[in-house]
Amino acid sequence: MSANEAVRLTSAEDQGAQSSINTPQSSILLIGFMGCGKSSIGRRVAKHLRCPFVDLDRDIEEVAGYKIAQIFALQGEEVFRQLETQALQAALGKTAVIASGGGLVTRSENRLLLAQAAKTGTAIVYLKADPSTLAKRIRRQPGKRPLIDGPGQPLNYPQTKRRVEELLKARQAFYQECATLTVCTDNREFETVVDEIVSGVAAGEAVQRQFSRANRL
Ligand code: S3P
Repeated sequence: MSANEAVRLTSAEDQGAQSSINTPQSSILLIGFMGCGKSSIGRRVAKHLRCPFVDLDRDIEEVAGYKIAQIFALQGEEVFRQLETQALQAALGKTAVIASGGGLVTRSENRLLLAQAAKTGTAIVYLKADPSTLAKRIRRQPGKRPLIDGPGQPLNYPQTKRRVEELLKARQAFYQECATLTVCTDNREFETVVDEIVSGVAAGEAVQRQFSRANRL
């Protein structure tokens, strides 16, 4: 079952409309800052919808044969960003729930790919969280994020929070520009966030279908 079909099956009304409508295959792509929960929540959304889960960072590590922090240290951020764009292009060819890296939206080429994907039915979901939430979650995995910790000692909590605020300020507008749906993850259970994503995506698809139907009349 595709993500598109699975989401549609959440509504009885949609089940009736399904056979007569021929919309393109679509996916759900999660964007948002490091630590917002893209991978953990994405895996759960995919399980809920019974469709494949793709994690762009894991795909990059597989292609490169190195961990993300090693790619940054050995080849630099630009090489990582090129691999990230390639991984995004490959993933957008599939029907899946896709978790991206926090910096995906910083490249204009990627933002263009997201805009094109949104036009053909992919839901771009921004998982939003406050800097304090993000910094706390990032601190649980010290040394894993090269743009936070760098090659030296992992930063402490106040330093991490300052770095998060700085980077988030530069990225926030890009997340908002790319998103077709925004879901807050501060102080919320995974299950609540998953439910909001699934129902938000289904509602968006229902509106799109009504719009297409109205335009055919
Ligand atoms: C990055 C986020 C990371 C990873 C890389 C760069 C970023 O992914 O892609 O370290 O620029 O924000 P997560 O958002 O999954 O931590």
